[in-house]
Amino acid sequence: MSDNNKTSNNSEITQPEKLWGGRFTESTDAFVEAFTASISFDQRLYKHDIAGSKAHAKMLNKVGILTDDEVNDIHNGLDEIQADIEAGNLEWSVQLEDIHMNIEARLTDKIGITGKKLHTGRSRNDQIATDIRLWLREQIDLICSEIQRLQKGLLELADREAETILPGFTHLQVAQPITFGHHMLAWFEMLVRDYDRMQDCRKRVNIMPLGSAALAGTTYPIDRNYTAELLGFERPCNNSLDGVSDRDFAIEFISDASLVMMHLSRFSEELVLWTSAQFNFINLPDRFCTGSSIMPQKKNPDVPELVRGKSGRVFGSLFSLLTLMKSQPLAYNKDNQEDKEPLFDTVDTLLGSLRAFADMMPNVTTNKEAMKVAAMQGFSTATDLADYLVGKDMPFRDAHEVVGSAVGYGVEKGKDLSEMSLDELQKFSDIITEDVFDVLTLEGSVAARDHLGGTAPKQVKARVAEALALLSDK
Ligand code: ARG
Repeated sequence: MSDNNKTSNNSEITQPEKLWGGRFTESTDAFVEAFTASISFDQRLYKHDIAGSKAHAKMLNKVGILTDDEVNDIHNGLDEIQADIEAGNLEWSVQLEDIHMNIEARLTDKIGITGKKLHTGRSRNDQIATDIRLWLREQIDLICSEIQRLQKGLLELADREAETILPGFTHLQVAQPITFGHHMLAWFEMLVRDYDRMQDCRKRVNIMPLGSAALAGTTYPIDRNYTAELLGFERPCNNSLDGVSDRDFAIEFISDASLVMMHLSRFSEELVLWTSAQFNFINLPDRFCTGSSIMPQKKNPDVPELVRGKSGRVFGSLFSLLTLMKSQPLAYNKDNQEDKEPLFDTVDTLLGSLRAFADMMPNVTTNKEAMKVAAMQGFSTATDLADYLVGKDMPFRDAHEVVGSAVGYGVEKGKDLSEMSLDELQKFSDIITEDVFDVLTLEGSVAARDHLGGTAPKQVKARVAEALALLSDK
């Protein structure tokens, strides 16, 4: 890959001629050259730059600007360059500034004067805007398949643990018993929206700037629909100024990525809590954890901790790009060169985080006893007792009061509601009878929430089946 290729900025070696040097009387300051170059990072776009050039050349041939021989030479030359890059045989040059000029200069070295015709009717401004969109479209597809892999893993886990009970929390205080499967499905639903947002963003990414040229379009009789078709774009953009300067597709992508990272970060926080000795609800496989160099007993949940930490990088990139764009007059400005590193970092961070979660989640195991004990401890069936009283015609507010007193008594005696005798419970209301114990069990409590979106194992199983079918349709 391109990483094997070295970047040279050694002024001892022969200086490549600037492709834009015509009007200049002195050569660029060496520091300025390095400061303004983007080849160290935009080399990552080589494949998309070459694909864009091949389509552009083919279109120039179709409209009669390049001959058949010329377009063949250009295509063969570009294919060879791609092979050279992939074999690690191309030395990137800082003097040639960016990916576009590195490839174009290499093409001219290979095929001679025809190489210089490739840039007819285009500019680096529409070229870079096109390259990023081609690259990002591909990355969105990778991200979407990683989201789906994680979703499948969560469904697997939810199905396996549909009956497992743990305490559900509000304010991080035990609230009501829920099923583990239901909890996993909450994460699944967030990812459904994340996936849809990525797909929606892809529609706006998949518009072609090429043909906008520097900013105003070009005097050549180009066929932009043809180029768009060759590159698999939905259509060419409608305005050349917008085409070269718009980066809101990238901001939209990073904002969607930020939401995924925010979800993964919340998820991470729960995994960190749940693996701690205080909760001890779940176990992460050893291969996703690390030890401590000083404390031999430690097994640290590094993967979720890192994902939680990495969310900050992505949120930071969102602000970088918003700030990058907010004061730019139309059309292209060199500021835009700063769009790439935050965008690349966002994609790398998101793909890495999704991959770690997709690999890890299906291998999580649960400590059912510990979760059950925790659910018993927090009077988590208090609402069920109130609902029971309401079922016997007591107004809800009165029922709330009665159960509140019973809980107060339980706190004093160190007893859960389900551990109290019928006599003890009847002290708070004489309408309580033996059947109360059916609703005070954890199993009874979760099974009773048996409606669409509720925590009952039956509902979990039904949503898993429905979601699996939806996923396999995509
Ligand atoms: N390296 C530039 C970028 O990333 C490519 C476009 C340069 N255009 C220009 N007029 N200097 O945006």
